[in-house]
Amino acid sequence: MIQDTIFEKSESDAWFLRNEKAIINRHANNDIIYRMICGNINKEKITSILDLGCSNGFRLNFFKSLPNIKKLVGVDLSEKAIEDGKARYGLELYKDSISDFEYNYKFDLVIVNFVFHWVSREFITKAIYNTDRYVSGGGALVIGDFYSPTPCKRFYHHLPDEKVYTYKTDYPAIFKSFGTYKKLSNLYYDTDNVNNTDRETIDKGNLCLCELLQKTLDENYVEVN
Ligand SMILES: C[S@@+](CC[C@H](N)C(=O)[O-])C[C@H]1O[C@@H](n2cnc3c(N)ncnc32)[C@H](O)[C@@H]1O
Repeated sequence: MIQDTIFEKSESDAWFLRNEKAIINRHANNDIIYRMICGNINKEKITSILDLGCSNGFRLNFFKSLPNIKKLVGVDLSEKAIEDGKARYGLELYKDSISDFEYNYKFDLVIVNFVFHWVSREFITKAIYNTDRYVSGGGALVIGDFYSPTPCKRFYHHLPDEKVYTYKTDYPAIFKSFGTYKKLSNLYYDTDNVNNTDRETIDKGNLCLCELLQKTLDENYVEVN
């Protein structure tokens, strides 16, 4: 079975149930993604946000108070998380996969935090395409995930009877390689201690990267004759 199907059938809900308490007790001021966005983008310019792999939409809920926000949309494979978020926060949430989600809109800001490492390598380019196409020209994309400068995979210990892996690589670099995104800000940190941001001292198994990109389309392409 393809691992996205395994995640859809059981592990997405299981992840939500394991983490539900911590998720609903999170505060915006302690959230790396929220802080990175608010520290680097003019909040008044953000009118729409899409969170791909949003769990119950707790992070979208942090952004409800932005002065000009009109659209907050979230997508996740976990039915339990989506149902929880709709009831708890009254958000527009969809149970769907990052690779298949269809929505006719381009967003000022797209967030993908700790999702790409779960996606089957069979569908990773589809997931990347389906992230890029929802970011408006000039808009922002935040990617958070485990970081490795070269691709590596780790056996997923929560499912010992299945052949499931998590995949680490430099996900922001994939988007920058097209020449259509530029880095606005980034932060390396330790998954076990988010206050440790000294890349050199972090165990490589724990190293995470959160990067804020701006979609520049062809702005940075050098014109030649
Ligand atoms: C590690 S959690 C991160 C949740 C949230 N983004 C955060 O920052 O806490 C990964 C989330 O991605 C969801 N997910 C995994 N694979 C997915 C896929 N292919 N499409 C959509 N969501 C997916 C899971 O259900 C889970 O809620």
